[in-house]
Amino acid sequence: YIKMRLSIIRTATNSFARGNYARISSSDLSFFEKAIGKDYVKTKEIENYTSDWTRQMKGSSECVLLPSSTEETSSIIKYCAEKRIAVVVQGGNTGLVGGATPIHDELILSTGRIKNNFHLEPSSGVLTLDAGFILADADNRLAEHGFMMPLDLGAKGSCQIGGCIAAGAGGIRLLRYGSLHSHLLGCTMVDGKGTILNLGGRLRKDNTSLHTAHLAIGSEGQLGVVTSVTMGVVPRPLSILSAMLAVSSYSDCIRILSLARSKLGEILSSFELIDGETMKCVESHLPLKNVFQGSHDFYLLIETHGSNGDHDAEKLNQFVEEALGMELAVDGVAANSENERAHMWRLREESPIAAAKDGYIYKFDVSLPLEHFYRLTEETRDKLKGRGRVYCYGHLGDGNSHLNVTTDGEDEELKKELSPFVYNWVVSHGGSISAEHGIGQLKRDYRSLGKSASESSLIRSLKGVFDPHSILCPYKMISTQD
Ligand code: MLT
Ligand code: ZN
Repeated sequence: YIKMRLSIIRTATNSFARGNYARISSSDLSFFEKAIGKDYVKTKEIENYTSDWTRQMKGSSECVLLPSSTEETSSIIKYCAEKRIAVVVQGGNTGLVGGATPIHDELILSTGRIKNNFHLEPSSGVLTLDAGFILADADNRLAEHGFMMPLDLGAKGSCQIGGCIAAGAGGIRLLRYGSLHSHLLGCTMVDGKGTILNLGGRLRKDNTSLHTAHLAIGSEGQLGVVTSVTMGVVPRPLSILSAMLAVSSYSDCIRILSLARSKLGEILSSFELIDGETMKCVESHLPLKNVFQGSHDFYLLIETHGSNGDHDAEKLNQFVEEALGMELAVDGVAANSENERAHMWRLREESPIAAAKDGYIYKFDVSLPLEHFYRLTEETRDKLKGRGRVYCYGHLGDGNSHLNVTTDGEDEELKKELSPFVYNWVVSHGGSISAEHGIGQLKRDYRSLGKSASESSLIRSLKGVFDPHSILCPYKMISTQD
């Protein structure tokens, strides 16, 4: 089965021929202006919407629409379905696979103004909020009531909750709180016909039907536009502690993970890896200093969430001492203040920024069984033989590696070689070609890798039900153009 898939990947083309969609006319613009207001139909200075944040993916859309409600969204989509206008749905535009970036001249529908409703039920911890709320803002509002968003990502200051659902975002505390599937209870979605679908509800337990709201998770805007989200949120921990360890081999990192699971138990909430090359890259491109003297091959960032600071500190210190005593770690340091903790997290969360500053970037986000996690980085280095710089950081506790390769300029030859090499390697070692970033446009040619034909066909049928004219986010994960 794997061999058959490998032959598909070698012949994959990268063609994104424009589909037979209508071009936007002045009468379309007048309709949109009437529907949502002239100020919210943008045709100028829209570069921040037409390209992704790395500026490596770019479309040529003529307009961006910013509806403020589910109803306005529905009237836009209904119109676009009738006129066969292609639409790309965009939240905070922080995605890493170009899922929210247009490819041709798709109209951009931004959810950034859909942020009127925010309702928390304090007794149950169930939150309903509009899709356009920025993750960090929602989290700050929850803090006032002693709650916390269960997910946290480096992009929290810009990404929107609707986009997080559509992207199936993972992040740095999935290890502790689980994926969005553990939290999403319901959502409102406008499908590709403009129909408003109220899926799921506010109950933590409801087994009366298919869990349709969960189809929105990771749907990348291809089934509908998520306009409202209902989810369970978690109690805000009273004690949050972080520590870093310097380690000299990958196998010791894995032993330390087992030690952390057994010694920290229920309070372990993050277990992140930064490799030595990435740390050097961070130090050379950003005004940030490693917390250790000298350089090491691996760094682990560990965080605990608990309810008793003294008890958690005792556990964390014991764990660090044990890792040092067993000679699994060569150095270790616990953060003594909120500033020190923030500094440790900047080293990890700004690793992608440092890598992007290092040159033209080829990004990978893969899941791998832990025994193969770092071999991919080593074998990529061996394969490139200095033709590119290879960095690895990621959510080691979740088996999620972010492999990044950079070159001084765009290297077409390397580009052709690198993705098939990495994706074949990942699938043949029991991994997934996308752990948390999705497929978007970047991985479209590889989307069937590791998937059965029957699953792919079921997904296409679902697409037909939600979006029969295939106007939503074309040319991407579920493409009906080929
Ligand atoms: C991260 O974990 O830092 C993000 O997923 C971003 C990235 O992988 O570059
Ligand atoms: Zn990540």
